[in-house]
Amino acid sequence: MGFKKKNLFTVLTLIAMPVMLGSCVSDTAAGTPAVLDSEEEASDLITIGFSQLGAESDWRSANTQSMLESFTEEYGYNMIYENGQQKQSLQMTALRSFIQQDVDYIALAPVTESGWDGVLEEAKEAGIPVILVDRRVDSDKSLYSCWLGSDFELESRKLCEWLDSYTQAKGLAPSDLNIIHIQGNTGSTAQIGRTRGLANAAREKGWKILGQMSADFTQTKGREVTASFLRRYDNINVVYCENDNEAIGAIEAIEAAGLCAGPDINNGDILVLSFDGTAEGALELAREGKIAAIAECNPLHGPKVRALIEELRAGKEVSKFNYVDERIFSSLPEVSSVTVDGISYPIENIDN
Ligand code: AHR
Repeated sequence: MGFKKKNLFTVLTLIAMPVMLGSCVSDTAAGTPAVLDSEEEASDLITIGFSQLGAESDWRSANTQSMLESFTEEYGYNMIYENGQQKQSLQMTALRSFIQQDVDYIALAPVTESGWDGVLEEAKEAGIPVILVDRRVDSDKSLYSCWLGSDFELESRKLCEWLDSYTQAKGLAPSDLNIIHIQGNTGSTAQIGRTRGLANAAREKGWKILGQMSADFTQTKGREVTASFLRRYDNINVVYCENDNEAIGAIEAIEAAGLCAGPDINNGDILVLSFDGTAEGALELAREGKIAAIAECNPLHGPKVRALIEELRAGKEVSKFNYVDERIFSSLPEVSSVTVDGISYPIENIDN
């Protein structure tokens, strides 16, 4: 990785510090206050270019807020924030503008995994470390410093274990499950992990997946996609949504079709499953049992990304992949814990 001009500036400043301090003291002694002007203060701030992928969900808004609140002047940072509006091309333009502005670090929440090699090579060439946030890229690991986010497949495995235990508790056989699968953005890390988790569980347990389609993590498309599946199949009893907003939309479609989203799967209710646990609307639906269970996806990345950057600034080695802790929620009493890879996860009541 190239050596940034600003890093060189910092080193030279440190070497020159005693001389500079000496001159400050004599200025002060001579009655001139050693006050930095605003230009000098601004140059002390660390500049982060943050390319967020969009504003498609409540989770995303919480994630953006966490990042913006964690990189303020109070902490010694100046954040340049760009919203990619779900378009990789806009995110690439943002990254190139960060490189042009010679920012100190780039934080990138990439909309999809592929296609980043060229622009990441440009950042590396410019000596600007890139920290991936939330989702990953499929580029060579040498092109970014580290990643911080969720284990999306683990989230899905926990939710699928919950579904297995719940339906067994209700006396259903695996072949009784007729699932529709509402996916997130095709090619995003969250979609890939959550889809893989369900596909593997369905194969191992013998569940039927009637159909799957992307709703881009949005409420509007969640409603439209669910409505189209409900017109096509009359035996759906599980809707697996890849985030809260899709689940809210799915419930709207279920109710508009005169059906019931709820836990009583033996008597015609449709079980709705979700990820995130961020949208207040989704949490309320889970309290009512309309969303049966939610695998948490933790959006509060800001302080953790700042801690990683501080370690990088201190010249420390950081782990390449950094996972956030996540829980699983349900207000239904039938399942009290799930086990994945020998680890038991308690089912948290939604109000905890
Ligand atoms: O990548 C994280 C996912 O993206 C969240 O689950 C979803 O709500 C968001 O839009």
